[in-house]
Formats: sequence, C-alpha cells, structure tokens
Amino acid sequence: MTGPVERATAAYQAAYGEAPARIAYAPGRVNLIGEHTDYNDGFVLPCAIDRGTAVAIGDAADAMVSVTSADYSEADRFDPNAPFEAAPGWRTHVRSIAAVFRVRGLAIGGAKIAIAGDVPQGAGLSSSASLGVALAAAFDREQRLDPTALALIAQAAENDFVGCACGNMDQLIAAHGQAGAALLIDCRSLATRPVSLPEDMAVLIVHSGITRGLVDSAYNERRSACEAVAAHLGVAALRDIDLAILEAAKTALDPVAYRRARHVVTENARTLVMANAMPASDWAKIGRLMADSQASMRDDFEITTPEIDALVARLAAATSGLGGARMTGGGFGGCVVALARRDRIAPLQAAALDHFSAVGRTPGLIHACRPSAGLKVIGA
Ligand code: GLA
Repeated sequence: MTGPVERATAAYQAAYGEAPARIAYAPGRVNLIGEHTDYNDGFVLPCAIDRGTAVAIGDAADAMVSVTSADYSEADRFDPNAPFEAAPGWRTHVRSIAAVFRVRGLAIGGAKIAIAGDVPQGAGLSSSASLGVALAAAFDREQRLDPTALALIAQAAENDFVGCACGNMDQLIAAHGQAGAALLIDCRSLATRPVSLPEDMAVLIVHSGITRGLVDSAYNERRSACEAVAAHLGVAALRDIDLAILEAAKTALDPVAYRRARHVVTENARTLVMANAMPASDWAKIGRLMADSQASMRDDFEITTPEIDALVARLAAATSGLGGARMTGGGFGGCVVALARRDRIAPLQAAALDHFSAVGRTPGLIHACRPSAGLKVIGA
C-alpha cells in the first residue's frame, strides 16, 4: 500500500495535471503519559507515530485556494483573503489554517492543494493536528517559520476557528517528533527533550471502537474546571502547584474541582518520573505509572468509560508485569496505549481480540507503532 505522500502526490497530479511544487507531511501521535496537562502548562510525553497526513501544494493562477481530498474524493475552493467561513467536514480544518495566516498578516496567495492521510479519525491519535501542522508548513511558502511556530499556528486554528480549546501537545509532537523516541515537552516553555524508550519496548495502540469528537463540551468543561482552581489558588496554571498546596486548599474547593486538579498535579509528577524510568528500562515503575495514570483519569478526571477501563485492564494483565496500559488522548473513547516487552505483542493482541468478542464489538485498529520523526517538507 502506498503512503500519504505518494497518494497526495498522485491526487495532486490527477486534479491539476502537473506535479506539486512541495509536499509537507506531519504524523499523528500517541501520548504515553501526561493527559490533560498541556493546557495546564504542564508536561507531556507523546511520541509521533508511523501514520500521518501529507499535503501537496503548488501555485494557482488566481488568488483562490483549491483543495482536493484523496481520502474523501471531495473538493473545496475558497478565498484565503476573505473572512473565515466554516464548511463541511475536513474543509473547516483547511480554511481555519488559512484564516490564522490571514489574521496574522501572513499572505498565502492562491494555491492548489491535495491532501491524503492515514491517521484514523476520532481515535485520539490527533489526525487533525497532523493535518493542521502539514497544512501550516505547506502554506508557509514565504516565511519559512520554524516547526514550533507552525505548531502554534495549527493550535490557534483549532482554538480560534474550529472551536476546540485544545492545548499544544498534539501540534508540538507532530512538528518535533523524533524517530525511535518519545518527547518530553514542557508545555509552558515549549522546550522538548527526546526520551529513549527501552530497546525491547513495543508501543501497541488499540482503538476501543468508541469514537468521540474533541469539539466537545466535556473537554472544554474539564479545561475550565482546571483554570478555575488555578485562579482560586492565585497561580497562572495548575503547573504551579504541588500536591501539598492542593491538599492545604482542599476544604475550600468544591470536591469535583479538587479531584480534577489532583489529576493534573499528580499526572505532571508521573510524567516527569516516566521520563527517567523509560531510559532506565525500569519496567516495574513504567507499569505502575501507567496504572496510576489510568486510575487518575478514571476516578479523578472522569474521562474514561467502563468499556475503556475493561480494555485497559485486559491489556495491562497481558503485559505480565513488564509494562502497562492506559487510555490515551482526550478521553471518552478513542485509543488505549500499551507499553510492553516486544515478546508480549502476540498475547496483547490476543487479549484485545478477546475483549472485543466479549463486548460484541468489531476489532478496530490494533497497531504496534514505530515512534517516528515529525514534520518533513519535500521540495522547494
Ligand atoms: C487532546 C488535545 C490535547 C490534550 C489531550 C489530552 O488530544 O488536543 O491538547 O489536551 O487531548 O491530554
């Protein structure tokens, strides 16, 4: 099967009768730990995956942007200098990136675009960040912005035009991913540090089959709850407090708000510990951190579902003490990530299939992914 770059190139050629001038590719991601910490200025530890989105682009004869989607066999056409107007499905994502360029005074000009991707949507693997970062790099024909600036354009497009109050993790890992490693990202300073995984570790992604979009009141509601606790404690973000400070304030906080904040504070700490446990191949600690993160998402942040909890429990048991499992991404569905020794892949796959037959669901993606490089641009 050909990949997104080849498919975007072929779709461009078919739609416009010539070769593209430039192709930008950005991957999806799986977050290993550090969930809902990014918009609290905290720490995350994702890796880019071996699936992504490619955007082939070339100049147009007029000032319009024409777009064709290889995955949907659909097209769009809009004026990048006119005010943003939403359009069905994937089109809004393209228009929103162009809109950020426009409001920042960065001219795009007319362009012809073809898009192809292989990140499953609604799976918690950041298909939209992969599309957004690839688009930002493709549109950026003049400024040659650095990968962090492109990531922040893609995040602004989500926040300001798509209507999703997401943090910056997905876009930063799509821009900066490193082959063979996870990335510890400080979501406040935007500093990144590659974290090598144990030599014999497999990263298994299992899609629960439950799909839930991120433009979603529950995500935005969790974010507001965190911000309200930070404001109550007089700090810029929950990153600025530790558990002792939170415990001291407990009686003054609404019990739900307290639990939301406790998830973020403990998850930040777990992420930093994990960044040291990984290179040390400390399997026992890795397993414990995964289990604690899952429990915290389930009990304190309340973003898992009973079915996801059951899948995580099956996978965690199948690691036989060498690794662990947790839900990954925004929550309420999507994927589970399991970290295990490579020789446990077959039992883990069997455990996933058992789970799906027990709940009567058709197995979705079960993928041993390769931690991969981030954004790349081919051509002038
Ligand atoms: C989504 C958002 C990210 C992050 C995660 C949860 O993927 O896009 O910014 O908040 O959820 O960790």
